[in-house]
Amino acid sequence: MIKFEHVGLRYGIGPEVLSDINFTLEPGSFRFLSGPSGAGKTSLMSLLYLGRRPTRGLITMFGKNIGQMSRKELSLMRQKIGVVFQDFRLLNHMSAFDNVALPLRIQGLAEREIKNNVDELLDWVELEEYKYALPSTLSGGQQQRIAIARAIITRPRLLLADEPTGNLDDDIGYRLMSLFDQLNKMGTTVIIASHNNALLDRFDHDRFILDHGTLSIHQPKSWIKDKLESMF
Ligand SMILES: Nc1ncnc2c1ncn2[C@@H]1O[C@H](COP(=O)(O)OP(=O)(O)OP(=O)(O)O)[C@@H](O)[C@H]1O
Ligand SMILES: [Mg+2]
Repeated sequence: MIKFEHVGLRYGIGPEVLSDINFTLEPGSFRFLSGPSGAGKTSLMSLLYLGRRPTRGLITMFGKNIGQMSRKELSLMRQKIGVVFQDFRLLNHMSAFDNVALPLRIQGLAEREIKNNVDELLDWVELEEYKYALPSTLSGGQQQRIAIARAIITRPRLLLADEPTGNLDDDIGYRLMSLFDQLNKMGTTVIIASHNNALLDRFDHDRFILDHGTLSIHQPKSWIKDKLESMF
């Protein structure tokens, strides 16, 4: 589904913020991306949602070399990707409902179907009563949940979420991580950037760890696995 080969990224004439990134991700994977502030998590995400092109190396997504794709092809590919941005990027002149409905309207879904889908998801993220509110009148955590609902409303093939629980308390953070888990079980490939290691430790997914622009892969051995291995 995704392949990075010797990928590097620099902003302008600055130093490389990502250097020699190599990995392959199979469809249906679930990966956490962790690493300290400034390590390059958001930069790597911007390559994955096709918001930037790498300054060197080769990126293959959905079987295609993105370096050889036209803008039109890239924008079609982007429709298969749901993104939760670290800074939310909600449309402030639209209600919570309309923000979440937007990707379905772009797809041309019937308004009644849109209403059913959006209502159900707003209910799930506990924002039913705020559906007509403008984002600017809501708290950071509420805005974050709108951004999450908007990213998953189309059941994208790839979901990228950048610190999606950064403004949420532990309970709702855990619930939303479980929602990402459910989506993943239905076939969505999921990549979540977070430096909340305590929350990530509650889930048993492989991790990409970024440090100063260099990527390593860490496979957690959960205590259950350890216990089973010691028993048999
Ligand atoms: N638009 C930009 N122009 C120039 N430099 C940038 C830009 N965006 C990020 N950088 C630099 O790239 C490096 C990595 O930043 P990035 O935002 O990817 O880190 P991060 O791991 O997401 O950090 P955080 O955990 O704080 O969100 C930093 O040194 C940052 O200053
Ligand atoms: Mg970031």
